[in-house]
Amino acid sequence: MKSESTPRGSFGSQLGVILASAGSAVGLGNIWRFPTEVGKGGGAAFILIYLAFIFLLAMPVMISEFVIGRSARSNAIGAFQKLSPGKPWIVAGIMGVLGGFLVLSFYSVVAGWTLHYTIQSALGQLQGGKGTDFGAAFNAFVSDPWQPILYLAIFMLLTHLVVARGIQHGIERYSKLMMPLLLAIIVLLVAFSLTMPGAKDGIRFLLQPDLSKVTPDVVLGAMGQAFFSLSVGLGCLVTYASYFSKETRLVKSAMNVCIIDTMVAVLSGFIIFPTVFSVGISPDAGPGLVFITLPNVFLLSFSEMPVIGYAFALLFYVLLLLAALTSSISMHEICTAFISEHFSKSRRKAAAIVTVICLVLGGFCSLSFGPWKEVTFCDKGIFDLFDYTVTKFLMPLGGLLITLFVGWYFDRKLVEQQLTNDGSIPVRTMKPLLFLIRWVAPFGILVIFLNELFPLFI
Ligand code: PFF
Repeated sequence: MKSESTPRGSFGSQLGVILASAGSAVGLGNIWRFPTEVGKGGGAAFILIYLAFIFLLAMPVMISEFVIGRSARSNAIGAFQKLSPGKPWIVAGIMGVLGGFLVLSFYSVVAGWTLHYTIQSALGQLQGGKGTDFGAAFNAFVSDPWQPILYLAIFMLLTHLVVARGIQHGIERYSKLMMPLLLAIIVLLVAFSLTMPGAKDGIRFLLQPDLSKVTPDVVLGAMGQAFFSLSVGLGCLVTYASYFSKETRLVKSAMNVCIIDTMVAVLSGFIIFPTVFSVGISPDAGPGLVFITLPNVFLLSFSEMPVIGYAFALLFYVLLLLAALTSSISMHEICTAFISEHFSKSRRKAAAIVTVICLVLGGFCSLSFGPWKEVTFCDKGIFDLFDYTVTKFLMPLGGLLITLFVGWYFDRKLVEQQLTNDGSIPVRTMKPLLFLIRWVAPFGILVIFLNELFPLFI
């Protein structure tokens, strides 16, 4: 391991790079959002579209972010300032940092719910009694003015503690600890869920495409999901790549992260759908799927064997919590790196500023499920507004600008130097890769994004 040679910090090993970047990618997006979208989008049909978007649109954005980050060795805004001084490209960085604040705020609310459910399941309180109404329990919890904010604050504090410790001692160290644990729990839970009676129907749902469910909305949803899941478009990976060493292989690292992220998403489907089908609950239960449907399942299927129900529930929520934490630290880092470098603040101070701002914004999001339900802008509550702004607007637009920057503005030679580590490693896929970055990704994103604003094309 190398020591932190620059004052900015750097990752100490290639494994650290992959696990931290995969940690950012693997999150609530994979285990909570992906199965929900699959449920609504016709199972395998959605998955096929999603896979195409991951490799044709989101991965080129990821590689472009890596190129920008390692070339500039600066935070998301500073990177564009350095590489294109005085040019409007800085807008991409500003949108990214703004998006970082928004995404951390609403994400931590759901992460706070997860923390609550983890504690509940550890205390054995999820099993409840036979007649427990989990929907009512969930609604009562999220609409309480204080409880969810308390959990949000605890979760934010955990995120803060990791980020404040820096790159090698904080982000890298905890990713190396949490990611293997997370992967082990997933494998265990898949094995668990595949043995449930009736699991076949869930597997069929995941493997047989139902094309009748594919609407334009589903296609848009799949792109939003691909971007959200890979954490691209907000400069999160620009920030992480600014800590990569000059030996880090950008293309290989991106491929690894995409494969790990996709595997975790699909495996989460293999945990949730066989379980849900085994007790005859509809797969399109929506966002309540993991907080309402699953506790029901744990109760129904294991009423004879409460110990197994207990272990299943606890492991599942621990998994969700770990995934949320490895992602939230990367969102926090986008903002912390910017504040620390732009305003010359120590990492600890910068991290504290970000934590306080996101705590306040997150509190607003949390209240929008309870006392502030009626507060809406353009028909959306505060939580939905943040979610919408980030996933439907800032991420695609950021992805578009980032691929245009690397594909068309940035010197082609410098791009190739980054991708080949100054010519020391061959990249056999260079031509198709550059084609994806220059043409396929920007054009694809533009068509889908414009259609979102003016629903004409599809
Ligand atoms: N990729 C994360 C997930 O799937 O949960 C979410 C995320 C992380 C989005 C970091 C944006 C970001 F900058």
